[in-house]
Amino acid sequence: MLAIIDTDPGIDDAIAILFALRHPGIEVVALTTVAGNIGLPVTTDNAGRIAALAGVTVPVHPGAAAPLGREAKNEVRIHGADGLGGVTFPEAQEPPSKTGAVAAMSDLLMAAEPGVMDLFCLGPLTNIARLLTDAPESAERIGRVVAMGGAVDEPGNVAGNAEFNLGHDPEAAAAVLAAGLDLTLIPLDATRQFRADAVYLEQLRETGAAPAIATADLIDAYFEQTAHQAKGVESRPLHDPCVPLLALHPDLFHVETRGLQVDVSTGALIPGPTETSVAMGLDAKSLRDRLLGGLSS
Ligand code: BDR
Ligand code: CA
Repeated sequence: MLAIIDTDPGIDDAIAILFALRHPGIEVVALTTVAGNIGLPVTTDNAGRIAALAGVTVPVHPGAAAPLGREAKNEVRIHGADGLGGVTFPEAQEPPSKTGAVAAMSDLLMAAEPGVMDLFCLGPLTNIARLLTDAPESAERIGRVVAMGGAVDEPGNVAGNAEFNLGHDPEAAAAVLAAGLDLTLIPLDATRQFRADAVYLEQLRETGAAPAIATADLIDAYFEQTAHQAKGVESRPLHDPCVPLLALHPDLFHVETRGLQVDVSTGALIPGPTETSVAMGLDAKSLRDRLLGGLSS
């Protein structure tokens, strides 16, 4: 499958990107960046560094530096001032592209057959909302959109009971949800079931593979960064890796259709008119095995 990854790396973004870049079943044609977990210059630099660690050449296109009509706010408490929890990544092999995210997505969509280019969304949906308004003829050619975001029956993880990605840019989230795309949303209801513990970190390290070892270091950093919030909790959720995993293994997720809309004052998902495919459950053990296998290659 062909995919553009739109991302705000971010500890769990980095794991998702390493997995997708190394997977023979996914051809990642571009990384597009957005402000989210950390500001745009850092997410853009991180995207290039993650590609370098994966040993893959892929263009990085900088996108939106702030949400639509709001100020950017960072998640440094979780992802650290460098967005990667202080884990060392190599320098990017190439500077970021001079073509911005929306123009790059539009060009790639127009160059591909309609319906074959998927979007993997790991951050706030600002770039996708901009694509919908700035290049609607390109947006019509998108294949699947698989996006980590929202909380349906679960509590959120930011103010207003929202989830971070939707809460960071509620207007963009509302526009994307209502756009009639072939969208599957993976909310906290599913991602909180996909967890890594100390045994899994050991398994990652034992592979001896650079992407797996970097992933173990990232999860370790995530443990340290969130220790104050989660005393005694011995595992952590891996949100963004669920996106490429669902694209590859939809059979390992339980997807339901729910009528939803985005409350634009907070970014929370609330009952509404848009029939939306949402992953509400998953086979955590099988998916952990798939992630381990992919990161070891
Ligand atoms: C989402 O928010 C970010 O902090 C993570 O990278 C993930 O995309 C989880 O709510
Ligand atoms: Ca993210």
